[in-house]
Amino acid sequence: MTDQEARYDRIAEGYATWWAPIHMPATLGLVRRVDDALAADGARRAAAGADAEPGAARPAGVDADAETPLRVLDAGCGTGLLLAALADGRPDARLTGVDLSAGMLAIARRNLLAAGTGIADRCTLVQASLDHLPFPDASFDVVTSAFVLQLVPNRHRALRELRRVLRPGGLLATLVWVAGAPGLGADEAYEAVLDAHGLGDGPAEGDATDGDAEGDATDGGATVPDDDARDDRDDRDDPLDASRAAARLRRAGFARTTAEDDTLRHRFTPQTYTGFMRSFDDEDLWASLAAQQAVDLERDLLARLQALDAGALHLELPIAYAFGRRSPRP
Ligand SMILES: C[S@@+](CC[C@H](N)C(=O)[O-])C[C@H]1O[C@@H](n2cnc3c(N)ncnc32)[C@H](O)[C@@H]1O
Repeated sequence: MTDQEARYDRIAEGYATWWAPIHMPATLGLVRRVDDALAADGARRAAAGADAEPGAARPAGVDADAETPLRVLDAGCGTGLLLAALADGRPDARLTGVDLSAGMLAIARRNLLAAGTGIADRCTLVQASLDHLPFPDASFDVVTSAFVLQLVPNRHRALRELRRVLRPGGLLATLVWVAGAPGLGADEAYEAVLDAHGLGDGPAEGDATDGDAEGDATDGGATVPDDDARDDRDDRDDPLDASRAAARLRRAGFARTTAEDDTLRHRFTPQTYTGFMRSFDDEDLWASLAAQQAVDLERDLLARLQALDAGALHLELPIAYAFGRRSPRP
């Protein structure tokens, strides 16, 4: 078992409760863009008077053809929310979710069963790594991937693998973090309260007195959760913007790329920020505390957060949607 797999198994429930709802608007943004791209394909085909071809040769977005269901893969499906939303809007689709973590897949199964009649029946969940997908070449018409590429050992290799399982002309739709997220004011308050309780990290070795702010701004701040934070990245190279994310797709053999910058926004309250840190983002630390120590820390943290401007609790993380088509060349 890899560290990454063990980590996600451990944080799966916290992820489902605290983090998945925060980036749900971005997830739904990806689903909407996939639907738009497929609808545009359908319109183009209708205008051209082309007939649907079954199997690997057909263009992406063959709509509502019961004989040849749209084959969708969500790579790094996590708790399955994207699969559920995609399946809900596309009765023609047969979907596969692949993820490294059995814990995340168990929650995905639960969410798909709760999502609506027949949705779970159209979804298959597979435990595997993006590095070695257990599917033949050209198995899917559409591949989606949300907030996963920063976690794989090698982003280019993973993109090549996604390309392999996509049929020529098929659609790749990715949602990724963008470098340079500003820090959240509440994170500084959190660190200060930890320090006051003797739990802080203290300054990192080599930190200059004026180096902290720049470090936070460059690396995304403490509120990008640990699972997505720099410590866990073998590949710490989030794109600087959406156009660079699209350029990476082209280097991996995708054509007709499109790119869109966006911002993921979320407003914490002092209570939800505290719950987020306690039960998810800094769960290990909180779990190590004695009961009274946790009570004291929570009380002081809430008091400190309540004294902040509301803006200090407004999360704004830059994200990018980057789409491409598998080019026909090998
Ligand atoms: C940040 S979560 C995103 C989950 C989901 N796509 C979403 O938007 O909520 C990252 C997911 O990628 C999975 N993951 C990490 N590395 C992976 C790999 N190499 N192959 C497959 N899945 C991986 C994790 O288990 C986790 O479920």
